[in-house]
Amino acid sequence: MIRDLSDDEARAALPLKWEASGVVPAWVAEMDYLQAEPVTEALVDAVRRGALGYPPHGDDLGAAFSGFAARHWGWEVPAAASVATGGVMSGIRLALEVLCPPGPVVVPMPCYPPFRDVVTVIGREIVPVHLDPDGDGRLDLAAVSRAFAAGARTLLLCNPHNPLGQVPSHGELAALAALAHEYDARVVSDEIHAPLVLSGATFTPYLSVDDRGILVTSPSKAFNMPATHGAQVVSLQPDDHARLATVPVPAQNTWSSLGVVAGIVAWRDCDEWLAALRQRLSAQRALLTDLLADRLPKARMRPLEATYLAWLDLRGYGVADPAAAALDHGVRVAPGHDYLAGLEGHVRINIATSPDRLERVVDGLARAVGG
Ligand SMILES: Cc1ncc(COP(=O)(O)O)c(C=O)c1O
Repeated sequence: MIRDLSDDEARAALPLKWEASGVVPAWVAEMDYLQAEPVTEALVDAVRRGALGYPPHGDDLGAAFSGFAARHWGWEVPAAASVATGGVMSGIRLALEVLCPPGPVVVPMPCYPPFRDVVTVIGREIVPVHLDPDGDGRLDLAAVSRAFAAGARTLLLCNPHNPLGQVPSHGELAALAALAHEYDARVVSDEIHAPLVLSGATFTPYLSVDDRGILVTSPSKAFNMPATHGAQVVSLQPDDHARLATVPVPAQNTWSSLGVVAGIVAWRDCDEWLAALRQRLSAQRALLTDLLADRLPKARMRPLEATYLAWLDLRGYGVADPAAAALDHGVRVAPGHDYLAGLEGHVRINIATSPDRLERVVDGLARAVGG
């Protein structure tokens, strides 16, 4: 059911990821697999029908997402809680600017780099909270409490976490929610990777423990279709909906009609494909573990609980920037310092590819660090 793209197909389909010739790309978060067939059919059909107009005010994305949340996580979220937006990052910007109190924004680090950018772009101060990239990756709740006590009233959560591949526990999120309530702070939870929780881990939707949280999500990551440009801001607070409704058009980051078409089908009709994908990713995760043991025995891999982005500690090899060294050996991975300034010896590897390419990635890294 998961159809691998050949090198030529991937180069044409994923031009950013595959832009450098002669390099095996394992950096940007896209999968070297074709999207699910129901998505293809719906998009082709929409284009044939000329459905390229502006998106409607009301759509069925919220209902499709509610169905997905109930089936996969046992979480009942009203369809009307969802508001469409252009992308997850533009949805986060909207949430921060329109729904969150003024003041500094707490960002757990390491983080997906646009998390830092979005806070800077809206002119707010970032309060970094350290997540141990080599430990359990849990939130330092005492540090969050100190940040709230010092005046921050917003926290930007990544649940599950990119780049650490970690799934926060129910207890951890409930404790964060208690702190948010104590300080009347709001948590904006990016859950774009939630459908990619792998066997062995359990996902908790943040809004299921905090009814004042703000969820921003999209099927674009799990279903490999960022080009369709559709995401959702989900809030259980009617006031938030009233405020979002007043946002002027140039500040809305308008979504795409095709994103609505693809999003509805992905949330509603692709469970079988998603199950096959998760199986495939679990197999890739197991393969990576074996390859590391064989070819990079001094590498330490964090338990990959979710996402297809594995976080590796290569400090055992004494190379400060293994990603730069790997480029010289025909492999592109993401450097750890992209996620935490100054962090040496770490890389993030995208494993959503063929077994053969994953092997070439590990071999290239091993040559680069002298493994
Ligand atoms: C945590 C996280 N949020 C957001 C995005 C990007 O979402 P969008 O393209 O919808 O802005 C990514 C992409 O990899 C991501 O990993």
